[in-house]
Amino acid sequence: MAIRSFLCYFLVFLFWHLNELRVYGAKEVINHLNASPPPVSKCSASPHGFAGGSQGLRVTYKGGPCSPLGNPRQILILDQSRVDSINSFNSKTYVLSDLKATNLDSSIKGSPLDAGVFFVQVGFGTPQQNFDLLLDTGSNTTWVQSKPCSTCKNGNKIFHPSASSTFSNHSCIIPPGESHYKIYYGDHSYSEGYYGCDTITMSRTLVYPNFRFGCGQNPNEKFSGASGVLGLTSDGDAMKSFGKIFCYCLPPKEHSQGYLHFERDAQSKCRTDKSIRLLAKRYYFVNLIGISVGHIRLEISSSFPSHPSTIIDSGTVITRLPSSIYTQLSSSFNKFMSQYPPAKAVETLDTCYNLEGFKNPTIPQVVLHFENSNDITLDTDTVLYKGDEDTVFCLAFAAKGKQSDLNIIGSHQQRKLNILYDLQNGKLGFGMGNCNH
Ligand SMILES: *[C@@H]1O[C@H](CO)[C@@H](O)[C@H](O)[C@H]1NC(C)=O
Ligand SMILES: *[C@@H]1O[C@H](CO)[C@@H](O)[C@H](O)[C@H]1NC(C)=O
Repeated sequence: MAIRSFLCYFLVFLFWHLNELRVYGAKEVINHLNASPPPVSKCSASPHGFAGGSQGLRVTYKGGPCSPLGNPRQILILDQSRVDSINSFNSKTYVLSDLKATNLDSSIKGSPLDAGVFFVQVGFGTPQQNFDLLLDTGSNTTWVQSKPCSTCKNGNKIFHPSASSTFSNHSCIIPPGESHYKIYYGDHSYSEGYYGCDTITMSRTLVYPNFRFGCGQNPNEKFSGASGVLGLTSDGDAMKSFGKIFCYCLPPKEHSQGYLHFERDAQSKCRTDKSIRLLAKRYYFVNLIGISVGHIRLEISSSFPSHPSTIIDSGTVITRLPSSIYTQLSSSFNKFMSQYPPAKAVETLDTCYNLEGFKNPTIPQVVLHFENSNDITLDTDTVLYKGDEDTVFCLAFAAKGKQSDLNIIGSHQQRKLNILYDLQNGKLGFGMGNCNH
């Protein structure tokens, strides 16, 4: 019972809604946190409905009570291990033993993919079998756990190739004979199996025959209860097949829905009003040139496009900045927050406050600056991250490790935005969508 009531208490705060109430004049840019009591939310099973509705793919979030992790501290630890694996891959020193050595506490089980957990439901085969996959712009392989499967996790649905009239294990394989796949997500998590070819249904009108994907036979982690991963890096099979243009809106909280669209649906349904250069080189590189807190603007030196240093990623939670910028951001933010008692760091987040008893705390506005005066004012919800104590909130940014590591725009800061990846024209579009199209 104690655990149950703790969980309820935890959930109340998890859904604590941070509303932008008003913005003061240009000099003092401050938002209010609105501490209106949020509804208590229950964990429900995976979302109902079917893949391929006219609304495109639904994106749902499971960082909350449905998450096997649930705990913000564990999410932050796995988030750091994802960042480590992206950086080691990007610096071409991808050595499995290095990744194994990252000190994941043995009590923290999971894959680095579990940190930023957004699900989409995708249809495989004929007739269509629907599966929840993790949406991941940071990995290149699309896979679904499939029969025969020795270690498929109980409860996660399994694809039956023999029940699909359009399945083949060779028709899409180039070069022929390359029938085995294995993908590592950093640390110890991986998925392995054989390649299959089948029709994949992304929406009522977007159906791709003879798509190559991994038929996972022994995933070694639960992958947050998903049946697989939709890998959307620019070099993967999905981007080769799905027309090189997609758009998503990541939902702000559990039980709210976002969406993922491809091709013409992405262009017609995702309204964007800002557009910046996009360099798709496996990861998605953009030119982040500054960040403002209140009226204080911090410049990030641009190395774009020769040695681009910032990526946008759906699977990293917390935005990573150069450490000198982060230090200034943190101290400027702290000045605005001086009336609130500081709280202990929560893993990677070291600028934390105890907001217990404050009815309408005010926080400074944070803006991301891109080239050509493209500024993205972050939603107040996305500036703070709730720590593992109910009243502790932290600035949701962190310093990257080495100077040569990538800056990363994480999913916490992307929520509610329409983000359009147009690989054909090398453009990334942004719009304030609130996930309502
Ligand atoms: C395809 O499946 C058949 C029957 O299970 C098997 O004999 C064959 O080796 C497989 N082909 C490839 C390329 O994996
Ligand atoms: C994914 O990337 C790895 C490493 O570069 C490569 O070996 C593999 O073939 C790629 N898989 C797909 C499906 O593109």
